[in-house]
Amino acid sequence: MGKIIDGKAIASAWQEKLKEQFAYFAITVGRKPKLAVIMVGEDPASAIYVRNKIRACEAVGVTSEAYKLADSVEQSYLEDLVKKLNNDRAVDGILVQLPLPPAFNAKKIITLIDPKKDVDGFSAKNLGSLLLDDKKGLYSCTPLGIIQLILSTGTDLTGKHAVVVGRSNEVGKPVALMLLQHNATVTICHSKTKDLASFTREADVLVVAVGQKKLITADMVKEGAIVIDVGINRDENGKLCGDVDFEAVLPKASFITPVPGGVGPMTIAMLMANTLKAAKGNV
Ligand code: GUN
Repeated sequence: MGKIIDGKAIASAWQEKLKEQFAYFAITVGRKPKLAVIMVGEDPASAIYVRNKIRACEAVGVTSEAYKLADSVEQSYLEDLVKKLNNDRAVDGILVQLPLPPAFNAKKIITLIDPKKDVDGFSAKNLGSLLLDDKKGLYSCTPLGIIQLILSTGTDLTGKHAVVVGRSNEVGKPVALMLLQHNATVTICHSKTKDLASFTREADVLVVAVGQKKLITADMVKEGAIVIDVGINRDENGKLCGDVDFEAVLPKASFITPVPGGVGPMTIAMLMANTLKAAKGNV
């Protein structure tokens, strides 16, 4: 029977440690770090994520500034806001909650964010830093959290076969690079992969970030695998569920993350860690 990786507890321990570091920052620098969070439109899931991020700021000692914009605002308004926040010395981090409503050019907005304030790690500069293993960059939060969850099991990734399902710029690609940095042998699968199960069955570590409920069934998982489920979906009854059939895979896995309470809380803890890193670079 697999063990459940308690992302909520691990994230909470991270936040406690970060809280002390934020307190030290506030004493030595004379101000709290500040994170600006921009949300456009009314997407209910995004509203929950943004609320959780702002709560985390309050919990650790970060000043948050929320910009909740109607989806009727112009692209140029959003661009001007990002430029203003880039130039505001008191703002350490800028986060634009994705997805933006379809009328917006999200890529252009992300590109505008000063890489030094890009706490999501989505900019080309920061993704380049990750590729080049330049530790000064800000790395994407969900992949950072995934690595910490894997390490929390005591597993050494060296020589392990890590299979990533999903190739997004936010999760799939950066987590593959991080797994590679930890000396795993990495395979990336995606929607065009032929015979997905033949790859997932070979995984010592399986990371699934697709957004398709119960895509990964028990027969697709190797006995003793570590399974990290990044998906957030709704099942037939409207309950949150991941990309992995949790109940069926649990007995086969050595460790598995639940949804909710797995990757999600760690993403937020890593956002706080990135905010501290950005703030330290802005004094
Ligand atoms: N939407 C879903 N996850 C994220 C995230 O980590 N950052 C941002 N900005 N938007 C998201």
